[in-house]
Amino acid sequence: MLRSHTCGELTKDHAGQSVSACGWVDSYRDHGSLLFIDLRDRYGKIQIVFDPSESLEAHALAGSLRNEDVIQAEGLLKLRAPDLINPKIASGEIEIRAVKLTLLNKSKTPPFEPTGENIPNEDLRLKYRYVDLRRPALQEALILRHKLCKATRDYFDKLNFLEIETPMLGKSTPEGARDYLVPSRVHPGSFYALPQSPQLYKQLLMVGGLDRYYQIARCFRDEDLRADRQPEFTQIDVEMSFVDQEDILTTIDGLLACMVKEIRGTELKLPLPRLTHREAVERFGNDKPDMRFGMELVDIGDIASRCGFGVFTKTIEGGGRVRGLNAKGAAEKYSRRNIDELTVFVGEYGAKGLAFFRVKEGALDSPIAKFFSEEDQRAIIAKLGGEDGDLLFFVADKCDVTSAALASLRIRLGKELKLYDPLDLNVLWVLEFPLYSRDEENDRWKAEHHPFCYPHIDDLGLFDTDPGAMRAQSYDLVCNGYEAASGSVRIHDPKVQQKVFDFIGIAEEEAEERFGFLLNALRYGAPPHAGIALGLDRWVMMFLANDNIRDVIAFPKTQKAGDQMTEAPSAVDAIQLRDLHIKLDLPESED
Ligand code: AMO
Ligand code: AMP
Repeated sequence: MLRSHTCGELTKDHAGQSVSACGWVDSYRDHGSLLFIDLRDRYGKIQIVFDPSESLEAHALAGSLRNEDVIQAEGLLKLRAPDLINPKIASGEIEIRAVKLTLLNKSKTPPFEPTGENIPNEDLRLKYRYVDLRRPALQEALILRHKLCKATRDYFDKLNFLEIETPMLGKSTPEGARDYLVPSRVHPGSFYALPQSPQLYKQLLMVGGLDRYYQIARCFRDEDLRADRQPEFTQIDVEMSFVDQEDILTTIDGLLACMVKEIRGTELKLPLPRLTHREAVERFGNDKPDMRFGMELVDIGDIASRCGFGVFTKTIEGGGRVRGLNAKGAAEKYSRRNIDELTVFVGEYGAKGLAFFRVKEGALDSPIAKFFSEEDQRAIIAKLGGEDGDLLFFVADKCDVTSAALASLRIRLGKELKLYDPLDLNVLWVLEFPLYSRDEENDRWKAEHHPFCYPHIDDLGLFDTDPGAMRAQSYDLVCNGYEAASGSVRIHDPKVQQKVFDFIGIAEEEAEERFGFLLNALRYGAPPHAGIALGLDRWVMMFLANDNIRDVIAFPKTQKAGDQMTEAPSAVDAIQLRDLHIKLDLPESED
């Protein structure tokens, strides 16, 4: 070992010992005769003092050191003189008096200081990710990520689960995104698909009698990226046999309690609250409500239908809805200009306008208040629990538009009005998702989650009469407004599975060709089974209250699915293409 201790490990208790520390030069200060260096590793920082009277040679070499050089310093650990104590850092009372210095490696001038005050732009950080990874915030994220994985493994191990790997080179799984394909050299013209999730394999493991499976599994999806999405991400993937929905919810409740205990040291109150999908959309406008704060949506259709404001009455006559929310105490916080910005913002979600009212002396104050009788004004205020100083917003439109616009407005206002502590974790289950929705473009029904979800037992009769109303035995875990896990009870009866494929327009031949192995497996004694997958990256984000998924992955991809550092994806040479029997037919370059 080149070091006797890590930089973060040394304390006053080591005073008087001869120690050796290694790391990166975090900063250096030349005080003429004395030279000070802060040495950094992932455990912390320690001050090294070079005094020519203790070692002329070490002092001379130290003078040539620059930030990010890698060194080994040996010397005596001493208490600092009282006037040199730095209460701001953990090792502020001690220092190493160097007698020997070894330059392990010289660094070029780094593109940025990893522990500097200013965080450089993300492109530069991703290009020099190995420097960026020295930043304490990134290291903290990776450490937390490790702890979550460890807690997961310990938890499942105690419950008799087996961690089993499934193939990376496989057949396309229907998770709804585009596949990443890998050409086969041995079978010219054929391709593997990287898994969008281990969905089919984990079901096959259940047929195989492995009965309790989990895997910290890498998934690949070629889809449009957002702040909470990566093309390559990680799931905590789970499947169980001989269970029903309740068993999965309880098992995952327990997992989360372990994670929270491990990371935060606090008890998570179980069972986690549950909402049906319908209730979530009605009360919060979407299926992943951030319940760290209230501001629920309220329907004022009855009042809107009889008021004198044409936009409202016409909307109700046309079968639409008028819904709104109450931004408590915000009347003076939003100027007319701010409200115009909010109107543009809800417009992005389809809303044609945003009606607003300030509550003032028990009545509504707004350019359109005149269209509402005094009695209706009081009724609206009462419905939204309004008080003087509140700001009420309404959207009149088709039900879906009111949901989408108000859900987004609610989240924006919650953030702007600081209605919650960003470090809070608010976790809940959303149950009974619709099973199918219309794919208008292709004029057919499509599976909302994936085609292996068991319909709600009470809804099996609706296939032929009202498929849009069928509920799935499915469940999402929602945390702070993110979809943090998703799963379902699976179909284990081949006849029901075939019926689902027929229904969503996957012809028998196509079903055989794409999922024949699954249908076949279901015919050979498939046990009832159910499962779920948690988005690991998203859980790390939520524990850290960080809303950038790239900050919790060691080597993430950019918004354009590229790697700034290695420059992947990149062209391959002609011989590789020839071996794969691939000819390129590229679009005209745009530049
Ligand atoms: P689903 O597709 O809902 O379900 O994925 C499960 C969870 O994975 C996370 N997630 C992502 N995280 C980061 N980047 C992405 N691109 C991304 N896509 C999804 C989300 C999501 O809730 N096989 C099913 C699970 C099952 O039914 O058991 C599945 O993959 O947190
Ligand atoms: P207008 O009649 O277009 O001048 O709109 C009067 C007010 O009603 C403005 O504050 C608009 O933002 C609002 N408004 C218009 N359309 C809608 C709508 N569909 N839902 C809610 N408010 C609307």
